[in-house]
Amino acid sequence: MLRLLPNRPLCRGFAVAAAQKKKTIADLSKEVSLKGKNVFVRADLNVPVKGGAVKDKTRINLSAPTIRYLLDQGAKVVVSSHLGRPKGQVMEDKRLTPVAAVLEAAIRAPVRLAPDSAGPEAAAFVKNTSAGEVVLLENTRFHAGETKNDEAYAKQLHEVSGADIYVNDAFGAAHRAHASTHGITKFVSHKVAGLLLDKELTALGTIMTSPEHPVVACIGGSKVSTKLPVLESLLAKCDTILIGGGMMFTFSKAQGYHIGRSLVEEDLVPMAKEFLAKAKAKGVKVVLPRDFVVAPDLEEASSSKALHADVASYKGDGIGVDIGPLTVGDFHNEIKDAKTFFWNGPMGVIEVPRYALGTDAVTRMAAFLSQKGGLAVVGGGDSLVTVQKLGLFDKITHVSTGGGAMLEFVEGKVLPGVEVLDNK
Ligand code: 3PG
Repeated sequence: MLRLLPNRPLCRGFAVAAAQKKKTIADLSKEVSLKGKNVFVRADLNVPVKGGAVKDKTRINLSAPTIRYLLDQGAKVVVSSHLGRPKGQVMEDKRLTPVAAVLEAAIRAPVRLAPDSAGPEAAAFVKNTSAGEVVLLENTRFHAGETKNDEAYAKQLHEVSGADIYVNDAFGAAHRAHASTHGITKFVSHKVAGLLLDKELTALGTIMTSPEHPVVACIGGSKVSTKLPVLESLLAKCDTILIGGGMMFTFSKAQGYHIGRSLVEEDLVPMAKEFLAKAKAKGVKVVLPRDFVVAPDLEEASSSKALHADVASYKGDGIGVDIGPLTVGDFHNEIKDAKTFFWNGPMGVIEVPRYALGTDAVTRMAAFLSQKGGLAVVGGGDSLVTVQKLGLFDKITHVSTGGGAMLEFVEGKVLPGVEVLDNK
């Protein structure tokens, strides 16, 4: 059985988050009968597809409960999603065909893939579908109007679906003001959150509004530039911030250490310095890696040549590829006593198994903390891959389906796809 949040109540000591103000399909079904109604569901079925096969089914599986709920209420469900970034062109490898097959298995009901998301053919396709069945509209991004939030395309999407009820369950795309996440809502009477979106907003909302302390965040990934805004926002919420991944080297440089040929954003070294000073002034503890794994290059073939290096004394010209074992120990010491843990971004180059050990360790720590009653929220594509690889999905309080959306939410930004929904 799919479970995003384990049955331990989220509100054990955590107040229900303010972000949970949006009306949900459960709220709506108390007001309006869904039986025989067409319902438009925007899901985020943007999953990795290789050679025609879905490589990670997580987003599809997690979209299933909302669709199943609507089917059980007797609705005709019209699902839409983007896949990749085809930029307004029809691309054969970006068709939703493999996604439809996986969705069918996840909801245990037939899914009919429409030839398009707009136009008379797609409209006729939906019309010929019965209540209790699911239509998946073809990739919305085959139309340039999708990402432009074009009103004419949004209207067409609405017309094809024949729906007066709109459900947004696409947390991963909620930071995009696109036709299917935003523009279409202008044409419907009801616009509500799906079960997945609601769970995401609840878990992340708790971190933002009422986290139990100590709050520890771990931020990784290759670039400081994409993570500085979230780091700034976390300064106001966290007791401790752990920094790993390729971005650690910009911080090492800011501390005056030699980093060889490791990834660095030179222009951000002063900002990294500034961030460390700000954290100190606010009394937020920042834990930077004291050791790392260094390799001659990023190729898997060279991974047997990788060595352990000390941040403070390194003099070589290798490339940093993972946090080291002493740092893993330091991070463990911080995470084990946290009450709330937020994590985004890998600790190393996880594509090479030997360089994924730091990320694996943090994933296990998130599971350990969740199992002892803490709240752990983990997100970002690489974290999701690792959680699934280690089989720990059900052991972590909340694994977010959002990458960019999760970061923007924690940065305190308004998500257009959420803002536009009806309030409770
Ligand atoms: C994601 O994968 O983060 C979402 O599906 C959004 O995709 P996008 O970054 O292409 O808008």
